[in-house]
Amino acid sequence: MIIAVDGPAASGKGTIARALADHYGLPCLDTGLLYRAVGLSVLKASGDPDREADALAACNFDKAILSDPALRTEAVGSLASRVSVHPSVRQALVQRQRDFAAQPGGAILDGRDIATVIVPDADAKIFVTASVHVRAQRRYDDGVAHGGHPDMDSLIADIQARDTRDMSRDHAPLRMADGADLLDTSNLTIDAAVQQAIALVDAQL
Ligand code: C5P
Repeated sequence: MIIAVDGPAASGKGTIARALADHYGLPCLDTGLLYRAVGLSVLKASGDPDREADALAACNFDKAILSDPALRTEAVGSLASRVSVHPSVRQALVQRQRDFAAQPGGAILDGRDIATVIVPDADAKIFVTASVHVRAQRRYDDGVAHGGHPDMDSLIADIQARDTRDMSRDHAPLRMADGADLLDTSNLTIDAAVQQAIALVDAQL
């Protein structure tokens, strides 16, 4: 059984994918981490994320970077969104994701193009979204909980810029796949969103 969970930044797709993984007893891959690792490794190599050759070279990142605390920052999310527009970078990461999906027993993957490009024949497809304001508020609360002093206006601007780049790129843009169900988490608690996701997946199986 393969479950594809796509959606924009801070929509709740990662939380939902992990809860589905628990519920169905499946391994889960956050594919955004791969693009984040490429973005962070370009930064560490003093490369230019907008230069395809620099971004492609960074696809051979050292696995240790996957546990770097900087990986989850919005700054690295934004670098990830810049390196992920390059077709050769996307191509370099495709097989790794398909291999994960193909393991016996199945898997859950979350990202932007899982149901459209990586595994279009997934058994269940969910597109998770939420309003820009709600998503920025989640990032804000997260920042405060980690002792930071986030600025709401710049969080909104960052999320909007990332949405625009992810939805308007030529290769594997963020969009809802044919056959996917939409789950808007704007007004839902985490528990309610997870329950709805389980109901949507069960109905698709
Ligand atoms: O999901 P996350 O915010 O960690 O993703 C970071 C960035 O990586 C996204 O904004 C997007 O540009 C890129 N990405 C992608 N395809 C995926 C997952 C992430 O292009 N499957």
